[in-house]
Amino acid sequence: MVDDILRTPGAVRDAERWTAHNYHPLPVVISSAEGAWLTDVDGRRYLDCLAGYSALNFGHRHPQLIAAAHEQLDRLTLTSRAFIHDQFADFCRELAELCGKDLVLPMNTGAEAVETGIKVARKWGYQVKGVPAGQANIVVAEGNFHGRTTTIVSFSTDEDARADFGPYTPGFTVVPYGDLAALTASIDENTVAVLLEPIQGEQGVVIPPEGYLSGVRQVCTDRNVLFIADEIQSGLGRAGATFACDHEGVVPDMYLLGKALGGGIVPVSAVAANSDVLGVLKPGQHGSTFGGNPLACAVAIEVVRLLATGEFQRRSVELGQRLRNGLEALVGKGLVAVRVRGLWAGLDIDPALMSGREACERLAARGVLAKDTHGSTIRLAPPLVITEEEIDLAVARLAEVLAG
Ligand SMILES: Cc1ncc(COP(=O)(O)O)c(C=O)c1O
Repeated sequence: MVDDILRTPGAVRDAERWTAHNYHPLPVVISSAEGAWLTDVDGRRYLDCLAGYSALNFGHRHPQLIAAAHEQLDRLTLTSRAFIHDQFADFCRELAELCGKDLVLPMNTGAEAVETGIKVARKWGYQVKGVPAGQANIVVAEGNFHGRTTTIVSFSTDEDARADFGPYTPGFTVVPYGDLAALTASIDENTVAVLLEPIQGEQGVVIPPEGYLSGVRQVCTDRNVLFIADEIQSGLGRAGATFACDHEGVVPDMYLLGKALGGGIVPVSAVAANSDVLGVLKPGQHGSTFGGNPLACAVAIEVVRLLATGEFQRRSVELGQRLRNGLEALVGKGLVAVRVRGLWAGLDIDPALMSGREACERLAARGVLAKDTHGSTIRLAPPLVITEEEIDLAVARLAEVLAG
């Protein structure tokens, strides 16, 4: 077929014409999806190996989630937090129980959950820990990705994310990721929190050394500092457990959640913590018009129920092992390194062969969608509903791309 009877080229051109170029998407235009599969405007099918950066852990249009959304759309969609609606308490209770925490504070995007965590930690620092006014400090890691607000990019170490967005918010100390001694040395009497991704997704699925997370937990406990785990991408089944922190049996003081919490349907994020921490917030001090809205809660309740079965965490472990086996066999055959935890993989392509972007374009041409990050790295995060055969298919396509 020639280009002028395909709809994709025109749709790509229109998207480029009418949007700010703050993304560089692959030139595919999706019009429908089911499970792990996407279909474009020209009827071509693709296996989704990104899953909306883990926002689609349960696949596209999971029937239980879609049914909950439809039912709620027909009844009540928004009240604001000025009133209480009938989905609110169930969502907060069920999510709090999944997290083993007392309280939940719902927001919408991941960045808002991170902002909430920062605000809560600072207020806790002043009111509970007794840090002098204006002196609260939060320790973060090099290579972090926590979102795009002005405060969050203030402590990013990625120049693309940070440059020309100053003046920057003070109150953050950056230490190397995975280095417990450096983190410990950076803590002083004004440190209110350590904010970390238990696995750095955006950085290329970077897994810290074994013992790091439990070491961070211990030092935070010893020094009266809150451990805030940003599980927005790593949590809710992705990393072979409900939370990536579970891998080391670590319970942070605050979980930051997002992405998959909205079932791939609505933006839902949340902070879960005990009342000695989240209890510092009083009426008027924080909020969001859409945070915890009825549609979001109705969908997220079903997300929590899906997770409560344990099935998705099991699939993440089992399918992840299959993915690991397939990818490790490609090390030395176009891949220089592979990192896998649960159904989540970072692959470093031999830069002499091609860039991550080129690899993703070639994968797309073979019907597999994935996304590059930082030069020659590709992140694979297929929906947890993917089958063994589909994992094998993705690995086979990757092998073809690497073989040229
Ligand atoms: C670990 C982590 N935190 C926060 C965010 C920000 O989430 P959002 O894009 O929903 O604001 C992301 C998004 O990729 C993330 O991976």
